[in-house]
Amino acid sequence: METVLSGIRSTGNLHIGNYFGALRNFIRMQRENNCYFFIADYHSLTTHPNPEDLKGSARQILVEYLAAGLDPDQCTLYLQSDVPEVLELYLFLNMNAYLGELERCTSFKDKVRQQPENVNAGLLTYPTLMAADILIHRADKVPVGKDQEQHLEMTRTFANRFNRMYKVDYFKEPQAYNFGENLVKIPGLDGSLKMGKSEGNAIYLRDEPAVIRKKVMRAKTDQGPTQENQEKSQEIQNLFTIMKQVSAPETYAYFDEAYNKCTIRYGDLKKQLAEDIVSCCEPIRERILELSQNEKRLDEVMDAGAEKARANARKTIRDVREIIGFRN
Ligand code: TYM
Repeated sequence: METVLSGIRSTGNLHIGNYFGALRNFIRMQRENNCYFFIADYHSLTTHPNPEDLKGSARQILVEYLAAGLDPDQCTLYLQSDVPEVLELYLFLNMNAYLGELERCTSFKDKVRQQPENVNAGLLTYPTLMAADILIHRADKVPVGKDQEQHLEMTRTFANRFNRMYKVDYFKEPQAYNFGENLVKIPGLDGSLKMGKSEGNAIYLRDEPAVIRKKVMRAKTDQGPTQENQEKSQEIQNLFTIMKQVSAPETYAYFDEAYNKCTIRYGDLKKQLAEDIVSCCEPIRERILELSQNEKRLDEVMDAGAEKARANARKTIRDVREIIGFRN
C-alpha cells in the first residue's frame, strides 16, 4: 500500500484552486491508500499571526477539510504542530540544505518581493520544513497543485542527499500526483495565472452563491474573438481552465466551439460558469456551517489524528537518529 500525504497552510480559507489543485485528488485516494493530510500551522508563523488568529485559522481549515470530504475514519488528519517530531527532521535536513539552492527557490523569491520588510529564516527554509512534512511519513505520492512542483523536487534532492551522505536507502523519492494528468494550476479571475489567498482573486468554498455569481460576472474578459479559431487571451483562457474543472465536458465543448466560431457571448459563458461553481461549492458550504457548530467532534478528530501521526513520525525519527549516530 502506498503512503499519500498532502497539506495546506492554515492561513485563509480554502478556495477552489486548493480544491481542484490538491484536495479533490487526495479525497479520491483516501480509501485505497495509507493517507495523511495535515494543516501546516508551523509554516504560517512566517507571517507572524497572533495566538487567536493562529488557533482560529487552523480550526476553520479543519472544518473546511471535513466539509470538502476528507474522512478521518479513512485517513489521518492532523495539525502539524501536534507532531513536533517534524521539527527534529527539519533541523537535520537544514544541516544539508544550502543557501544557494534555498535562495533560488521561486516561492522564496516571490515572498522577498511581496514582504521585503519580513524576509525571515523561516521563509528561506520553508522548503526544508515542507520536505520534513513529507519525509517524516516517507510518503510515495503527494497530491498538490502545480505551484508546489519545485518544492517536491527539492524534497527529492534532500532525501537523496541524506541517503548518499549516510550510505543508506532510507528515504524514498516522493512524487507530485494528479491521477495521471498534468498538475493543475487554477488561475485567478483577474486575468492572473494563479488563484491564491494572498492574491485577493479567489472564490472560496464558503462563499455564498450570490458572492460567487458576483465574482464570476466581474471576471476580466476581452473584446471577443474576431476570427475563427483565434488563440484565446489569458483572461479568456483562465475562464475556460476553470470551466474544465467544474463543468461537464459537453458544456466546455459547447462554449469552446462557440468561441472558435466567434458566436460566443461572454455573459452566457460566465453565467454557466458561475452556476457550475455554485453547484460544486454549495453542498460543501452547507456542511461547513453544520460542522462549525460541532466543537466536540473537531476536538475528537484532532486528538485521534495527532496520535496516529505522531506514532508514525516517532518511528521515522528513531530510525533517522540511529542513522545519523545519535543515542535513542
Ligand atoms: P497552499 O496552502 O498554498 O495550498 C494548498 C494546496 O492547494 C494547491 N493550490 C493550487 N492548486 C491549483 N491552483 C491553484 N491556484 C492553487 N493554489 C493552491 C497547492 O498546490 C497545494 O497543494 N506549501 C504548501 C503547504 C504544505 C504542504 C506540505 C503541501 C506544507 N507542507 C507538504 C504538501 C506536502 C502550501 O503553501 O500550500
